[in-house]
Amino acid sequence: MFYMDKLVVQGGKSLSGTVKISGAKNAVLPVMAAAILADGEYELDNVPDLKDVRTMSKLLESMGIKTETNQDKLKIFSSSPLSLEAPYELVKTMRASIYVLGPLVARFGYAKVSLPGGCAWGPRPVNLHIEGLRKLNADISIDKGYIVAKAGHLKGAHISLDVPSVGATGNILMAACLARGLTVIENAAKEPEIVALAEFLKSMGANISGEGTEHIEIEGVESLKPADCRIIPDRIEAATYMVAAHITNGDVNIINMDPVHVSAVIDKLKDSGAEISIENSSVNIKSSGRIKPVNITTAVYPGFPTDMQAQWMALMSVSSGSAIITDTIFHDRFTHVAELKRLGADITLDNNVAVVKGVKGLSGAPVMSTDLRASASLILAALVAKGRTDISRVYHLDRGYEKLEEKLNKLGAEIIREKEPIIT
Ligand code: UD1
Repeated sequence: MFYMDKLVVQGGKSLSGTVKISGAKNAVLPVMAAAILADGEYELDNVPDLKDVRTMSKLLESMGIKTETNQDKLKIFSSSPLSLEAPYELVKTMRASIYVLGPLVARFGYAKVSLPGGCAWGPRPVNLHIEGLRKLNADISIDKGYIVAKAGHLKGAHISLDVPSVGATGNILMAACLARGLTVIENAAKEPEIVALAEFLKSMGANISGEGTEHIEIEGVESLKPADCRIIPDRIEAATYMVAAHITNGDVNIINMDPVHVSAVIDKLKDSGAEISIENSSVNIKSSGRIKPVNITTAVYPGFPTDMQAQWMALMSVSSGSAIITDTIFHDRFTHVAELKRLGADITLDNNVAVVKGVKGLSGAPVMSTDLRASASLILAALVAKGRTDISRVYHLDRGYEKLEEKLNKLGAEIIREKEPIIT
């Protein structure tokens, strides 16, 4: 018999108190990959204890880079020569493994990285990563499920992305640091995690300007040196706790976050009836007791993040009217709809548009996690559902939320983790 963790949530508790936000998963992963770019010792601080971070450590270790964790500090000892491969077994569990592609080919002129494949909720192509690196003069082929990249010295190029992909921007950015001459990335991603990566690369000696805008310029340098980095707070974790406070009619202080990074979510929460006060690196959110329906359409930063779409749907499931939720970034990202419906939500899905009619109350039921943010939406719904909700396969949640049930329980939730036997 084999066992998986599940969460058992007793709904109906109002959340109150203070919760501290951890470092951002999506910021730490590319920073860890950047350690491929220069030999030496790195110290990262405010690193979240997450499965994805452990997977990235494993991937680096498999290449010959040592890592050492001490609470929220992660030391990385990079020393060449490295094994230049990222195997399928690791990449399939974490798509962000693709971040090693750019640094490997830029520094060593070779990389063999498994194609990540799709997600539970649909295809997630990496064509822009490949096309960008080709523009930088890498010779890339696909062989038996692997991306094989070869290059002499990369050469700077003008790259215009069809869509402002976060991953492609990060990969090209890291590679361009060691390319000869100037690289321009047009239609670049502007997400805070890209800005954080650029700042880290600059502290390693890279010559980058324009990060945070859609036009990034990188003047290649001969070599980089190791550096230390404090990981920025996780904006999706912060926004998830904000929704948790509103959905449970609670009053929560969220500390160690960057309110600017979640301003789109803050605006929508205010429209939905939450009272929000902001102070430097903390936000207090107090529900007015009524959740008004508010439409959202996901967009690239600073728009409403696709990583909060599922959680917003949970909130709208118990609003006082109808809301339209449109995902323009990932059109198939709706596996949570069927599970929310099991809790009594009234949702109609047509392609990438969901119409959510608020119901008086949800009621607990067994549901299944299907991906990271879908799992978060199920927890939020379970927090207000009447009775007990069992959420299976929470390993998805452990990929991206540090100590979620511990933090929620400290705010007054009633969640326990249990092992459940899996019949195969
Ligand atoms: C990152 C985040 C993820 C978030 C997403 C969008 C990490 C580790 N993950 O994922 O949490 O949901 O940004 O904010 O940071 N696309 C292509 N070709 C490509 C790459 C992307 O067509 O080569 C498309 C995608 O299908 C999607 C859009 O671009 O429609 C945005 O995806 P992208 O920004 O690349 O997402 P990730 O970097 O994978």
